Amino acid sequence: MSKGHRVRLDFSVRTQFPSLRQSVRGVGLTYLDSAATTLKPQQVVDRVQKFLLIEAANVHRGAYALSDQATENFETVRKKVATFLGAQRPEEVVFTYGTTDGLNLLAHSLGETVLKKGDVVVLSEMEHHANLVPWHLLKERLQIELQFIPVTDQGDLDLEAAERILKNPKVKVLSLVYCSNTLGTVNDVAKLFAMCRERGILTICDAAQAVAAMKVDVQKLSADFLVFSGHKLFGPYGVGVLYGRWDLLETLKPFRGGGSMIEAVSLDHSSYLPPPYRFEAGTPNIEGVIGLGESLDFLSDLKWADIAQHEDDILLHATQQIESISGVRIIGRPQLRKNVLPLSFEWGHPSDVSQLLDQQGIAVRSGHLCTQPLLKRFGLSAVLRVSFSLYSNREDVDQLVRGLKKSKELLS
Ligand SMILES: Cc1ncc(COP(=O)(O)O)c(C=O)c1O
Repeated sequence: MSKGHRVRLDFSVRTQFPSLRQSVRGVGLTYLDSAATTLKPQQVVDRVQKFLLIEAANVHRGAYALSDQATENFETVRKKVATFLGAQRPEEVVFTYGTTDGLNLLAHSLGETVLKKGDVVVLSEMEHHANLVPWHLLKERLQIELQFIPVTDQGDLDLEAAERILKNPKVKVLSLVYCSNTLGTVNDVAKLFAMCRERGILTICDAAQAVAAMKVDVQKLSADFLVFSGHKLFGPYGVGVLYGRWDLLETLKPFRGGGSMIEAVSLDHSSYLPPPYRFEAGTPNIEGVIGLGESLDFLSDLKWADIAQHEDDILLHATQQIESISGVRIIGRPQLRKNVLPLSFEWGHPSDVSQLLDQQGIAVRSGHLCTQPLLKRFGLSAVLRVSFSLYSNREDVDQLVRGLKKSKELLS
């Protein structure tokens, strides 16, 4: 798509996603699982294919033109990501294999440098397992303490409790989800991170869900670190980004060792390159990075305000339509919700309902959604999650509502 061409989100953008033109179980696909992974626009797939078919070469070791070009293209994406996030320099962008990988890197490396026994790491009750388990591992290794910002009945963070918790001088790190993958809650990360900055607490933002829904700016958020996955941003799998403030990245030890991240190696000692290469051991997912760059180009043809307006309209329409069906409960009523509705039903288990929806070509997710503690907080072990993205439309919602009504008839 040409630069500067503004896409009408309700129509033109859908044509960019070939996946939406297929039939599943004999009916047109209704894709309502974008929180699990976004669909991929044609231009991203074309770009990845071009790299693999024509441009394939390894990066950062070029003695020939193809490899030099691959390196240049790879490093250009680093610059694009830096601009996308409002980073001060491209070297603040580390390529990872995804959000989970970035969080493991941070928990491990902060455990090597910043954190010691007795220090407190603050998380919240609404974290994805990817922002819980790495800290559990660190807790076992280092005897740090974990504390959790509670979630209110509405599905918001309890900000008063958060303030109390953050006053403890033993708190060294706050790692927080920006948009909940289960409730859709948009947390006031900027407010909490500003509080942390005043107190010298390091901040990590899990922006896995946020990056495709809103403008994410690490300066405005006062985020010391931020992570996301390419596949939730219209890009390929197995690639992600860790943003880190340069002065902090410089102090961190590597997470993995191997080729491409060293300055010099002897038989019993290695010295490491500066960031970001220090954290990128081995051959990276080059086509993933190239594809991620293309997904940023795809997004740069759109306006965040248009995306928000469109997605908020779909969410409102879905909320009203679903509320009109008796026997469905929408979990939580957060002050600000994006793209996600978690549902439970009087007439059946979420997994039975999702199976019936699948038979009607409607793709949704059911289960604990990698947030077991959050569901427990609401007295649940599973929900059915409906989630939207910029290519979703009102017809998707209407299909869903018809499907839910049919599942009610069949299961009641
Ligand atoms: C909020 C949140 N954090 C972390 C993750 C983990 O992302 P990935 O599986 O791409 O590493 C997800 C994925 O669903 C998520 O929604």
